[in-house]
Amino acid sequence: MHEFKFTGKNLYCEKVRVEDLARKYGTPLYVYSYQTLVDHFLKLKKAFHSVDPLICYSVKANSNLAILRSLVDKGAGLDIVSGGELSRAIKAGCPANRIVYASVGKTDKEIEEALRQRILFFNVESVPELENINRIARKLKVTAQVALRINPDVEPKTHKYITTGKLTNKFGIDFKSAQQIFLVRKALSNVKISGLHIHIGSQITESAPYVAAIGKMVDFIGRLRKEGIVLEYLNIGGGLGIVYDKETPQTADKFAAKVLPLLKKRGLKIIMEPGRFISGNAGILVTKVLYIKKTPLKKFVIVDAGMNDLIRPSLYAAFHSIVPLKSPGHRVTGSQEKVDIVGPICESGDFLAKARLMPKVREGEYLAVMSAGAYGFSMSSNYNSRRRAEEVLVVGSESFVIRKRDTWDDLVRNEIIPAFLLGL
Ligand code: LLP
Repeated sequence: MHEFKFTGKNLYCEKVRVEDLARKYGTPLYVYSYQTLVDHFLKLKKAFHSVDPLICYSVKANSNLAILRSLVDKGAGLDIVSGGELSRAIKAGCPANRIVYASVGKTDKEIEEALRQRILFFNVESVPELENINRIARKLKVTAQVALRINPDVEPKTHKYITTGKLTNKFGIDFKSAQQIFLVRKALSNVKISGLHIHIGSQITESAPYVAAIGKMVDFIGRLRKEGIVLEYLNIGGGLGIVYDKETPQTADKFAAKVLPLLKKRGLKIIMEPGRFISGNAGILVTKVLYIKKTPLKKFVIVDAGMNDLIRPSLYAAFHSIVPLKSPGHRVTGSQEKVDIVGPICESGDFLAKARLMPKVREGEYLAVMSAGAYGFSMSSNYNSRRRAEEVLVVGSESFVIRKRDTWDDLVRNEIIPAFLLGL
């Protein structure tokens, strides 16, 4: 469900014709629908209202300040994974007591800053990290609130690069080690272990892996309780899948129906960390066809967006639906053809789609790469010294630039030619 729809022969974002945005702001251009973004957040909130969860949107999915602000405004917290994301969260106006911080490699400086800001808690991923947080908290004379990230060893049935809850992954702490941590926790006088966390992977379309993982957590929490260890929070992570192609992911309501009975069992405060579910279908990448190139074996549609703008197809062989901004329904029928849609970057891995059946497109025409609102711009880079795309937020019939396109100067802003090379 999203607010990118054809009306007549044109693709619209809410009440704005996307082609008008492409002409006004240039391409490549990320276009986001405010309504879709907020709707997805509220849908989840509503489905889980009976446990009144704190929904911490996962900043890494789309970290633009305006996107964060839109969600924080509606009551969202934020899930962060670096000092940079902490700084964004604060700049976006997120109250510190709604920020949770995961990552297997938090540096001393990042830990210190998060403690100074008094975030809700750290999701701790290893014993050495826990000891380090304790040491830094002692130095600052504060108590750090933490949740142990458990690796429940379940198979989420998703791409192996985004599977995180198996014991072969670097994330989290196994149950046995976690139990041992609770036995020695009193020695760590400057940390308070107030909860447990899991995040088993991303783009998970079924509820079974969650039910398995949460079931294990509920049992574990029950065992701890028998030993007199009472916890306050259970953070069930993110990972909810969305529709890119023919997937049929669980809706928020179906997901809630499966996991709520488990969550209610222990009366814990529930935290969730969805990223893609909220922003994925709230954004598209608009690109212009530069050339149509025929080779003896193939036809390439060369566009002005590359793997530096959207790396998901190159990195995970991910599918993104690609549609011309002028409805295919208004074209000559039977004019479909198989093409590779590729960017201008000097790598054969630079493609947005391979062997894709497309209506015949022409040079100069615009295409929309759908479902690009999560892990699109946030994973983009300046590779090939390309300026990162402009980002626009549509609200009803208005559009707002929420990030300007890089300038040539931005590309070299932090670079220095040493004086000796300048002959000085
Ligand atoms: N919580 C933690 C601890 C995470 O590591 C992640 C994502 C999330 C929450 C949010 O997951 P989501 O709800 O968005 O699935 N770049 C990949 C996805 C990587 C996900 C990394 N962790 C992609 O483009 O598919």
